[in-house]
Amino acid sequence: MERYGYVINGGTPLKGEVVISGAKNAAVAMIPAALLVDGVCRIENMPHISDTDMLLTIVSELGAKVRFVNRSTVDIDCTHVSFRDTPFDLMRKIRASYYLIGAMLGRFGVSKTTMPGGCNFGERPIDQHIKGMEALGADVSIQHGFVYASARDGKMHGSKVYLDKVSVGATINIILAAVLASGRTIIENAAREPHIVDLANFLNSMGADVRGAGTDTIKIYGVEKLHGGTYAVIPDQIEAGTYMVAAAATGGEVLIKNVIPKHLECISDKLRETGTIVQKYEDAVLVKGASNLHKTNVKTMPYPGFPTDMQPQMAVLLTMASGTSVITEGIYDNRFKYAQELLKMGADIHVEGKVCIISGVKTLTGAPVMACDLRAGAAMVIAGLCAEGETVIEDVHYIERGYEDFVGKLKRLGADISAVWFPDRDDAPARITIAG
Ligand code: EPU
Repeated sequence: MERYGYVINGGTPLKGEVVISGAKNAAVAMIPAALLVDGVCRIENMPHISDTDMLLTIVSELGAKVRFVNRSTVDIDCTHVSFRDTPFDLMRKIRASYYLIGAMLGRFGVSKTTMPGGCNFGERPIDQHIKGMEALGADVSIQHGFVYASARDGKMHGSKVYLDKVSVGATINIILAAVLASGRTIIENAAREPHIVDLANFLNSMGADVRGAGTDTIKIYGVEKLHGGTYAVIPDQIEAGTYMVAAAATGGEVLIKNVIPKHLECISDKLRETGTIVQKYEDAVLVKGASNLHKTNVKTMPYPGFPTDMQPQMAVLLTMASGTSVITEGIYDNRFKYAQELLKMGADIHVEGKVCIISGVKTLTGAPVMACDLRAGAAMVIAGLCAEGETVIEDVHYIERGYEDFVGKLKRLGADISAVWFPDRDDAPARITIAG
């Protein structure tokens, strides 16, 4: 089987401008949310990534009419969807397929889905999702890898749910199940991430009544039906943060456009601690790399804390900062798998449980490495951009789940990066570069 990867020749500071795409983790909630809408949802600023492609295919297979109006605007018409099994092979591949549970319960009072896929950071249970669905009147069971859920009397009913753990996915799933339920639902200890606010705004623009998104108490007053409308997804906080770190790590100067600077505050503050200059504009940030990076410590936390999805990228930057930095992972059990790849590039990095200790080195050196997951893959790209010589990254399909046109955007910033196929046959050329 042919292998697909990126080849990077490092050492060029990134320079220029980059435009950020729509937020993955908002878009992957809005596509299933369209199932609740009676009419056409026009979603603008939809990122072109494989996770959204898969979800659009999933809702199409449930009977939705999906039509791209242009590259980043899609119409989803769920008027004539009816209950049927979800395409399990696709559902298993992505995390956000769990939103089909809430959306289908809301629309049909019943759902059958697979356990979700997604990046492997250790155990990722869905017990809080199930707790929420049960509180709203569904019976839920997991058997043979499938999640079966059905509303006890055919319809969901508003209720109070306290989340034992702050969970983005459970907060969104309960909102989806509650929007068309009878009565009022209250979610306490809700997650506060920007994409939760965005989903609530999306639903409210189509006639829902969701209040308090962005705080830890969300109230959803059930409505009879939702109507079609047009909504633009917010810019991706993590894509923007990734380019910010790439600019800082390569010692470059990049204007990152189409962002909400408020969502980038904790990333900007951390970068400033390393000596990086970050200037804020109305809908852009300018990042100027420092000639000498300083150490800093990072602890990941739910929003507005430092995002776990920026932890691997930040770790790469700190491998080149003078002194010893400590990263503490506060969300997942096992999100440091990429450390073994950075060791191959000469980093001084050591993991103990949920803590990673990094002593800065002068330079990284290019090496063949793997993208262990989506953000770890982006981190390896940043490492490759900084390293002396050539870095070859395999398993980059993980990266393409969440970064639109990563190679193209980096090339336009001056990076020497190409997407290539590595044929396995002995008589074939060593690499085939993919045009574009
Ligand atoms: N958790 C439970 N039980 C649950 C749900 C979560 O114990 O029922 C735990 C998880 O194991 C984890 C913590 O709670 O330790 C937080 O998990 P959360 O539910 O918030 O994460 P998620 O919904 O599975 C989303 C994003 C992730 C991002 C996290 C945290 C999507 C599709 N995924 O995952 O995004 O890391 O929130 O912000 O929105 C990424 O984009 O690279 C990515 C992994």
